[in-house]
Amino acid sequence: MLDTESLFKLCYGMCIISAQSDGKNNGCIVNTVFQLTPEPPMIGVSVNKESLTHDYIARSRVFTVSVLAQTSPKSFIGWFGFRSGKDVDKFSNVKYRLGETGVPIVLENTVSFIEAEVKNDMDLGSHTLFVAEITACGSLNDGVEPMTYSYYRDVKRGRTPKSAATYIEKTQETQN
Ligand SMILES: Cc1cc2nc3c(=O)[nH]c(=O)nc-3n(C[C@H](O)[C@H](O)[C@H](O)COP(=O)(O)O)c2cc1C
Repeated sequence: MLDTESLFKLCYGMCIISAQSDGKNNGCIVNTVFQLTPEPPMIGVSVNKESLTHDYIARSRVFTVSVLAQTSPKSFIGWFGFRSGKDVDKFSNVKYRLGETGVPIVLENTVSFIEAEVKNDMDLGSHTLFVAEITACGSLNDGVEPMTYSYYRDVKRGRTPKSAATYIEKTQETQN
């Protein structure tokens, strides 16, 4: 039995991961950032090999996570989650600051940030699991709720592209 619909009962948070290469910034939506250890503080994220963000992280070995606010508009999520930095400059119209590692931290529609240095990666076929140590983190907007993946899907009626780590075929919500 492989009832993939049941996987929607796993809980995730919505984030933008960003990276920089040759002075260019890029980022994309992920819902697969999770904490792995408390000391040293480590996180993992699963990133599609075809994305530009993957290229940038693989080259620079550093990335940031900007955790999305529940109030983030769908258009904002679409800009980072359905467009590629191969075609558009995603940071051209977005408020951000550069973190300690020089990687952008998104300042609009976000509640917190993490900066991380890649320590290890695992080839998963379509995706790479990057394991990284947190070098800095903090809150951006106290009192604003983070957005969960189920809120994005069930309340915002948001869609998920095939490139996403948790894409599941055949459901109403995930069909383009
Ligand atoms: C709700 C949602 C969740 C996503 N989760 C992931 C993920 O965990 N990993 C991933 O590689 N892509 C994920 N994506 C897809 C990327 O954001 C998308 O492929 C993006 O266009 C890549 O942009 P880039 O080429 O500029 O890096 C997700 C997209 C959405 C809308």
